[in-house]
Amino acid sequence: MNTLQKKYLADTRNNSDLKSGQSGHVEWNCPSNIALIKYWGKKPFQQPINPSVSFSLMHSTTVMTVDYEVKEKEDGLVLEFLVEDQPNVLFAERVLNYLNHVSKYLPFLNRMHLKVKSVNSFPHSAGIASSASSFGALALALCNIEQLLFGTTADEHDFLRKSSFLARLGSGSASRSVYGGYALWGHLADVDGSSDETAVSISGIVHPVFLNYRDSILVVKSGSKAISSSDGHRLMEHHPFAGARIIQANKNIEILLRALSVGDTYLFTEVLENEALTLHGLMLSSNPGYILMQPGTIEILNKILIFRKETGNPVGFTLDAGANVHLLYPAAIETEVRIFIENELKKHCENGWIIHDEVGSGPKETKAQ
Ligand code: PMV
Repeated sequence: MNTLQKKYLADTRNNSDLKSGQSGHVEWNCPSNIALIKYWGKKPFQQPINPSVSFSLMHSTTVMTVDYEVKEKEDGLVLEFLVEDQPNVLFAERVLNYLNHVSKYLPFLNRMHLKVKSVNSFPHSAGIASSASSFGALALALCNIEQLLFGTTADEHDFLRKSSFLARLGSGSASRSVYGGYALWGHLADVDGSSDETAVSISGIVHPVFLNYRDSILVVKSGSKAISSSDGHRLMEHHPFAGARIIQANKNIEILLRALSVGDTYLFTEVLENEALTLHGLMLSSNPGYILMQPGTIEILNKILIFRKETGNPVGFTLDAGANVHLLYPAAIETEVRIFIENELKKHCENGWIIHDEVGSGPKETKAQ
């Protein structure tokens, strides 16, 4: 059994300490994140085949409000769940399965009546990972409720580590969202505390030029993807290039960490784009292979390469598992890059849709009683 899993199973609180009717309310605002080194493929129990690095976004967040009440009997969790004030049967089912799964770490859930409301600051169809911000917010709320119910406290490091561990079990990339700035998920021999079970903050090693980096999200195609990320992860299990991918990701992470620490925006861009193209290359070469890029995606990527060559500006792209392009660049060249986006890239976006975001400072507890 893994170390943290063992620890959190041993740390569980006794439900006989709960009082029927004990109730409260917590609210957490948690960001989505954009991966620079991609998590693609898993080992059993929601662990990654390779380490990944991301930064949390500032404006693309989920606010999760949870009203809780201890039931008289321990006869299972009751969940009421609304997304944007509407019932969402599919997501509610995913959340209920998740809560039942994590109840082995948080047994109080078996005596809970929860009313959960989830609101995203970004449109669902924009291709921003709402599962990362949602499971991040939910895990933070659950750790917060545990403290309120049992009157326990933890320092910030331990609180975030447990939240990250629990968020990971809902969506792997969510493990990184509980931290502001830059996060690493996955074990690396050179990084203390790094683990496949939980993400850690690496903002401390990051050069200031990257701490307010910009991410303009160019929405080429809104709506849901033909192949979900879960299916994509599964296709890595028998992928002929899986072994080479693991080696490449570990090398890329080493280069990225060097670029981040010395402030080398060109080296950063090189690794960033290699990761994005590799991710889509792995999709193309899966069995069955599939294509998530659209013609507009390719047009945008080519124009970014030309702009960089002509201006020498360190602008670079990354792609998630979808058609939309994230354009990453230093804050200092924002004006120039925004003009380029308006003149050259906007025409390839669905209804000219662009979301300007940047590195964010992480989750916030927005209200608690
Ligand atoms: O966390 P998941 O299962 O939604 O997978 C995320 C996969 C990518 O977004 C493509 C990469 C990543 O590391 O976020």
